[in-house]
Amino acid sequence: MKQERLETLQEQVRFPLIGTKAPEFKAVTTKGPLHFPNDFEGKWVILFSHPADFTPVCTTEFMTFASMHDEFLSYNTELVGLSIDSVHSHLSWLEAIENYTWNGIEKPKVKFPLIADIRMEVAKAYGMLQGESDTHAVRAVFFVNPEGIIKTILYYPASLGRNFDEIKRVLLGLQKAEKDSVALPANWEPGKDVILPAPTTREEIQQRIEDAKDTSKYDMVDWFLTFKKDDGR
Ligand code: BEZ
Repeated sequence: MKQERLETLQEQVRFPLIGTKAPEFKAVTTKGPLHFPNDFEGKWVILFSHPADFTPVCTTEFMTFASMHDEFLSYNTELVGLSIDSVHSHLSWLEAIENYTWNGIEKPKVKFPLIADIRMEVAKAYGMLQGESDTHAVRAVFFVNPEGIIKTILYYPASLGRNFDEIKRVLLGLQKAEKDSVALPANWEPGKDVILPAPTTREEIQQRIEDAKDTSKYDMVDWFLTFKKDDGR
């Protein structure tokens, strides 16, 4: 991209921060008008962008998201897609997708809304426009909790399709951490041991050492690093 266009883009694009309220917007979608994140109060939302309709990597991603939609719903999580295309382009592409078969996914129904961000307002508010293009969004993923707070942000380039096992792992990890007030170690997966918050006083350290003697429940590496067996979701 030319330096001048890049500088203009850098002036216009904002990057939301983890731990802050998801920027509010109203948009046109393939399922009608959307008021984000207000329409999803009490639910988790995965808001994701893709570079363009009728492109190969995006098509594989949409087929995969569509095939996992019911599973995400079972985790109290809604999906919302976005690209800088018209709603008519979206509708036509989704209709095409629903006739495809790939990777064991047969004629998937796309039941979640796809935002038509033709004016690029949402893309600019969410850092979806980056140095690759000032007209196509990157592959962004925002995990928003039931209070409308951004909990995780992932960005991928146009050339790399997302890993949906990782997207699911992130969601389940965020839900687990919030529900049980624990942290999750490297390569955590559902069912694996979780990390207890580190003690902050000498008394708490002594108590932790005492508790950790029950090795059927705890695995203490050091006083500040104690694993607890998972007790289910
Ligand atoms: C794709 O989805 O295949 C794609 C979209 C934009 C740029 C490169 C690849």
